[in-house]
Amino acid sequence: MTEARRDPEVVPAAEWADEVTEALAARIAAQPDLVLCLPTGSTPEPIYERLPDALDRLGVSMARVTVVLLDEYLGLPAGHRIRCDSQLRRQLIDRLDAPPAAFLSFDVDGGDPAAACVAFDAEIAAIGGLDLVILGLGMNGHIGMNEPGTPTDASTRVIELTPSTMEAARQYGADPPPKYGVTLGMAEILAAREVWLLATGERKAAILREVLEGPVTADVPGSLLRGHPGLRVIADDAAADSLAG
Ligand code: GLP
Repeated sequence: MTEARRDPEVVPAAEWADEVTEALAARIAAQPDLVLCLPTGSTPEPIYERLPDALDRLGVSMARVTVVLLDEYLGLPAGHRIRCDSQLRRQLIDRLDAPPAAFLSFDVDGGDPAAACVAFDAEIAAIGGLDLVILGLGMNGHIGMNEPGTPTDASTRVIELTPSTMEAARQYGADPPPKYGVTLGMAEILAAREVWLLATGERKAAILREVLEGPVTADVPGSLLRGHPGLRVIADDAAADSLAG
């Protein structure tokens, strides 16, 4: 594959969260019934912190937005603070003046995660697909929980987590960490109308370089996004530090 490199928008670290928050609030103002897929993890946290105020300032709400969860751990009880659904509720949804029209998450407590993935995709298809997917970047190049080795046509499914993803979950506070998760598939992410890939901090510099300047390969799932015509990469200067420029 010979997809062109996608130039990132590079923002000074001190301004990064404000800029991305303003861009997201403006996107919601422009399309109040957005179907918006959101990640968890440390990268989007400062955006979620700022978003309620940014929406207030613009006089818009998320009351007509459908929020879709990007991925979820398996084996953690409902309400566990590291569960992705709990994180997103705590960091954003519960802090909004008006709750979103819907919050679609994986039914991982029903005992059949593979069936939950099928149901999740069906729900998304029923509302017309995803308008905007916002993504963090795993230290190994994963997208959601699409770990290295994921081809472009991989659909929403159960995933065995790699050691580095398990270690990240342990650092977030799940000890012992989960071994499996469910994730929106690479195929469903690539089918979204628009994708924003976010990367911050020096620790993401090497993998962001691989994603944007290395070969487009299933070994680095983030690199597969370069084939998406609606991709924006928004990095802070620390994460962009190793790029050829
Ligand atoms: C986690 C999640 C991803 C997240 C990524 C980066 O394992 N499954 O959805 O985007 O890794 O996390 P962080 O933003 O904390 O670096």
